[in-house]
Amino acid sequence: MCGIVGYVGNNSSLDVLMGGLGRLEYRGYDSAGVAIITESGELVTRKRAGKLAVLAADLEASALTDGRTGIGHTRWATHGGPTDVNAHPHLSADGRIALIHNGIIENFAGLRDELLADGYTFESETDTEVAAKLLGREYLEGEGGLAAALGRVVARLEGAFTLLALHQDEPGVVVGARRNSPLVIGLGDGENFLGSDVAAFIEHTRRAMEIGQDQIVTITPDSVSVTDFAGNGVEAHEYEVSWDASAVEKGGWSSFMAKEISEQPEAVSNTLLGRIHNDHVVLGELEAIDELLTEIDRIVILGCGTAAYSAMLGKYAIEKWARIPVEVELSHEFRYRDPVVNASTLVISISQSGETMDTLVAVQEAKAKGARTLSICNTQGATIPRESDAVIYTHAGPEVAVASTKAFIAQITALYLFGLHLARVRATLDDETIATSIVELQAIPDKIRWVLEQHGEITELANWMSDSRAVLFLGRHVGFPVALEGALKLKELAYIHAEGFAAGELKHGPIALIEPGQPVFVVVPSPRHPNSLHAKVVSNIQEIKARGAKVLAIAEEGDVAVLPYASDVFRIPLAGPLFEPLLAVIPLQIFAMELATAKGLDVDQPRNLAKSVTVE
Ligand code: F6R
Repeated sequence: MCGIVGYVGNNSSLDVLMGGLGRLEYRGYDSAGVAIITESGELVTRKRAGKLAVLAADLEASALTDGRTGIGHTRWATHGGPTDVNAHPHLSADGRIALIHNGIIENFAGLRDELLADGYTFESETDTEVAAKLLGREYLEGEGGLAAALGRVVARLEGAFTLLALHQDEPGVVVGARRNSPLVIGLGDGENFLGSDVAAFIEHTRRAMEIGQDQIVTITPDSVSVTDFAGNGVEAHEYEVSWDASAVEKGGWSSFMAKEISEQPEAVSNTLLGRIHNDHVVLGELEAIDELLTEIDRIVILGCGTAAYSAMLGKYAIEKWARIPVEVELSHEFRYRDPVVNASTLVISISQSGETMDTLVAVQEAKAKGARTLSICNTQGATIPRESDAVIYTHAGPEVAVASTKAFIAQITALYLFGLHLARVRATLDDETIATSIVELQAIPDKIRWVLEQHGEITELANWMSDSRAVLFLGRHVGFPVALEGALKLKELAYIHAEGFAAGELKHGPIALIEPGQPVFVVVPSPRHPNSLHAKVVSNIQEIKARGAKVLAIAEEGDVAVLPYASDVFRIPLAGPLFEPLLAVIPLQIFAMELATAKGLDVDQPRNLAKSVTVE
């Protein structure tokens, strides 16, 4: 939520900033802006409401003087609508400092009043301008230059923020600060970078450095220094980014979403890579908490949106395999209801970005109450894994499209690996069952490839249904989270009202929604498994068909029982009961993407949304 980039070096800062903002635009796309210190030492800024392309066109039409020090921002509006004036950067009163911000400064109103009483005036409705004016005042009144002034400012701020600033009188210097909001350093040769994530500078360097909570960083072309808010030096950890710039490019695909859907076989195989030895799951990263895993009596899994649906699937698998109670809760609900957790509880958080504020504060709350914490995350070095006792990284590669697809599949894979690991540690499954489940997981990438080949049929249906006003999704057991995820994808991509229901719940109310022609996707389990719910789901299909629903079934290859009732059937290969969701969700992702495309919508950047929701 909001993308931030900073640059100092010997190259054109405008090129670096605009390139970085292009790769960060998925974090927010309401407006964008840059500030640069020119060769002649002047501070110049340009900012525009709208997508980055609007700013790019403006820059091209009116050549902004370039320089070698700059900051850039792409915004997801919180305080104040998406207008030119509210766009970042914001300036200090003397116009010599430019500042950009990601997050929410919760005490901004009080600080604004204080500045107003001191004679300051404001142009925008943003909390960010308050920080800019405050920084200007601190710079003039205190000592130690920009970094010291920023330290004094952030000590007064409440809430979540990443701030970057530069001062006209300090060319070759960009300072940044962070609390509960992401910021990483990119290390170059004679140049250095700052970014909300490594995508900001991956085109220039793969050497990155983490910045901890409540820390300040100062970059010059040849140096990087990190301190706490009080100015005491702290050590920062350097790491090598495991992917390169091509991973955040479309590479010939029509959208990032299309590319990421197609990358799902690799998302699974890369998440499995190196974690299976001799028919056992080996999660070396859990060594520190393995003993604890035998002692816990309960697991709580936290996440938001799609991550919460993967959490639901984790519950089904972990309870089945490790025979331990698992609860799933939306992070934001967990955080504020004084939850009962203690040292015997393992709290697992799921987050693609590792920066979702709702999940971060929920993890902090769990820790404060004594629970042990495990993060399942797709972003190396992100805040949530760093604040957790242990982390299982998913290896889906960077997810750029705002709607999650391959990260979801990788999260389920990681949760299943964890479930099998836990079952071994707690001795709740025999070796043979573990080995069979591992074989199931290893077979998933090829089965996903098989499902992906049906893309054309799903596109046809989506084109045909592009004027639908409401679509329902039904599933039972592990098909239920798939139904929820199918509905979420359709809502966020195609702006169509969609609801997912547990099929058994239908007759308790939702069946009243069925009228002639109502499209209903139904996730049908295989009839071939012992205790399969197939017959019950087919009964549910009959109930809605009898009331005129247009049934669209996701069913196993060869399942003929659905044929008399379904208008269309999308086939998935046979997989074990817990593994079906990894296949059944794919047609629903494709359907939402293709329907949005048929409506002429931007599937990578749906309206009002942003990837990485770093505000509560
Ligand atoms: C939906 C989607 C969101 C995210 C949610 C959590 O397609 O992408 O619902 O799943 O905002 O994000 P992370 O996983 O980054 O914590």
